[in-house]
Order: sequence, then C-alpha cells, then structure tokens
Amino acid sequence: MKQRTAYIRSVGRFLPERKLTNSDLEKMVETSDDWIVTRTGIRERRILEPGLGCSHMAVPAAIECLERAGVSPEEVDLIIVGTVTPDMLFPSTACLVQDKIGAKNAWGFDLSAGCSGFLFSLSTASQLIESGKVNRALVIGSDVISTIIDYTDRSTCVIFGDGAGAVLLEACDEPGFGLLDFMLKIDGGGGEYLCVRGGGSRIPPSHESIDNREHYVTQDGRQVFKASVSGMSDVSVRILEKNGLTGKDITLFVPHQANKRIIDATAERAHIEEEKIVVNIDKYGNTVAASIPLALYEALVERDYDLKKGDYLLMSAFGAGFTWGSALMRWWGC
Ligand code: COA
Repeated sequence: MKQRTAYIRSVGRFLPERKLTNSDLEKMVETSDDWIVTRTGIRERRILEPGLGCSHMAVPAAIECLERAGVSPEEVDLIIVGTVTPDMLFPSTACLVQDKIGAKNAWGFDLSAGCSGFLFSLSTASQLIESGKVNRALVIGSDVISTIIDYTDRSTCVIFGDGAGAVLLEACDEPGFGLLDFMLKIDGGGGEYLCVRGGGSRIPPSHESIDNREHYVTQDGRQVFKASVSGMSDVSVRILEKNGLTGKDITLFVPHQANKRIIDATAERAHIEEEKIVVNIDKYGNTVAASIPLALYEALVERDYDLKKGDYLLMSAFGAGFTWGSALMRWWGC
C-alpha cells in the first residue's frame, strides 16, 4: 500500500454570469429546446464576456479554492491548468495564474487533453505529490470553449459552455486514503472526429483559414458518442475491478458532463445507482476541462454532499484526442 498519496482538500469555481439558453439558440440555428434536452440533457450554458480569457476564470476559481482551505498562494508548490483554450499559445495559462494569484513558490504548466484535461492533470499532480517533490498542488480545469465554437453549426454550438473549476491537492500520509488509482488512455486514431484544424503550426491563422472556418471545433457527434460510452465505461468498470470494488461501493460518481445519455450509459455499465451520480449538465453544458471540478464543487458545496472519511469517489472522462480515463479516490476529508 502507498505510504503517501494526494487528497482533495478544497474546491473552487468560476462561472460567467451570462446564460445562453436553449431558447436563445432556437433563434440562432435550426434547433429546438426539445431536441437539445432529449438528445443531450442540456438546458442552458454560460458564456464568458468577450475580451477575457482562460486565466480570467482560472484565477477566481483558484482563489476561492485556496480561501476555502485557508491556504496562502505562497504555500502552493505546483499549478497545472487543464485547458484547450489557453489565453495565448505561450506563456502558459499556469504562468498567468501563478502571477495573478501571487503563488511565488510554484512551478507549473498547462496540460492539453480535451475534456479529459482535468483528470490527466489531477493524476499528474498526484504523482508529483506521491514522489515527495510537491506537497501542495492547484489543479485547475478552465475552458473558454465559446471562443472556438461556430455559432452557425447546430451540431456543436448547443453542447458547449464556459467555466472553470479548481481543486487543492495535498499530501495524505495515512495509507489507504487519497487518490488510490487512475487509468488514463489516449487513441490518436480518433483525433479527426473532434478537433480544431486551424490556429496551430500546420494551419496558422490566415484570411483563408478564417474563411474556411478552420478555427472552430468540428465534430462527428455519432463517432464521439460511441467512443465516449465505450471508453468511459471501460475504464470505470476496470478501475473498480482492479481495486476489488463494484459500483455498489462507490459513494459519489463524478463523470465528465458531455451528454446525459453518455453519463447514464456509463453508470449503468459500472452498476452505479442514479442517486450517486452528480449531474449538472442541464445548467452548464459541456465545459470541457472544467466539467469534473465544477460537478465536484456542485456536490460538495452547493448540494452539501457530506463525503465521509473512507467513502469512495469515482471520476471518469472522455475527450478529444481521443483521451479518456478514470480516477478512484478514498475520501480523507475536505
Ligand atoms: N438540433 C436539431 N437537430 C440536430 C441538431 C440540433 N442541435 N444537431 C444535429 N441535428 C440533427 C442532425 O442533423 C441529424 O439530422 P438527419 O438525421 O436529418 O441527418 C439528426 O439531428 C440526428 O443527428 P445525430 O448526430 O445522429 O444525433 P445524436 O443523437 O447522435 O445527437 C449529439 C448528436 C452531438 C448530441 C451526440 O452525438 C453527442 O452527444 N455526441 C457526443 C458529443 C460529445 O460528447 N462531444 C464532446 C466530447 S467530450
């Protein structure tokens, strides 16, 4: 058994004020509230005001997270920001956050793994804590996905929304608690089904690339849907089996919020009962790397979900890449 793990000590979030409802979208593209709710479970999402970037959401989420724990920014050793919509190509959003919150003693970086960005970041930070190199890490998921959504494309614009969530990870010295295990996967063969072709080194911004709308998210929804269900349920079932658990042992399941049907199918295959699943996709849509920490925040803070020492928390995600994974945590207090 590991002598040192990482546990979640605190959570924070930021949600833009502006709401984009299904009825707003009905005026923008050929769609209906009924279609969106039935196919996705989404009723509204948040949109960040123009001129602001990823760090403008990551910073308040990080500050709330630290304040809840009573930890000063100087005590943070590491900042990882999971995002596909950084403020700029470089410097990293982690550097911007470090500067804006005054985390003088931290190092850090951005991590790009689409909607799995938070889980990949959490797992990476936990390993640095386990190694003893890091004692305290801010793990943030923040995406202003609205900046790369084509609001004339009904197959993508109804799904996504902006937001940021943060957790403070700290070392846990009691064996058998904290982040016990994670299972992460990538399959670049799925890359073409969910991507932004322009804006990188292969298709730098040009008048032509703008005219071709290459800076927007394109998606083959059906392919992504199928891969999400099989990927998320596979890692959820396997991480439970590997750790000698079943879905019945899980107290709280926090899945990535991409589509209510994907969440239900994953939970069904992992035998996790409905009342244990955190779902807030109706209010925020798919917030990419922010979705898991936003759902965790909702459970712990807004719904006052009282996770007790020893309770099992399962998280799982699927995203562009393809990327997917699960993480299993045994609660050690918050
Ligand atoms: N409103 C109304 N009709 C729409 C629509 C919208 N917003 N978007 C697509 N449609 C239409 C399609 O054009 C299609 O019409 P057709 O049959 O005449 O061609 C029909 O609805 C069915 O499209 P389909 O793509 O099969 O629907 P679906 O049930 O698969 O739902 C998604 C579409 C996008 C909601 C679903 O595939 C999905 O959630 N995929 C995964 C997306 C995802 O999770 N992405 C992020 C990964 S992290």
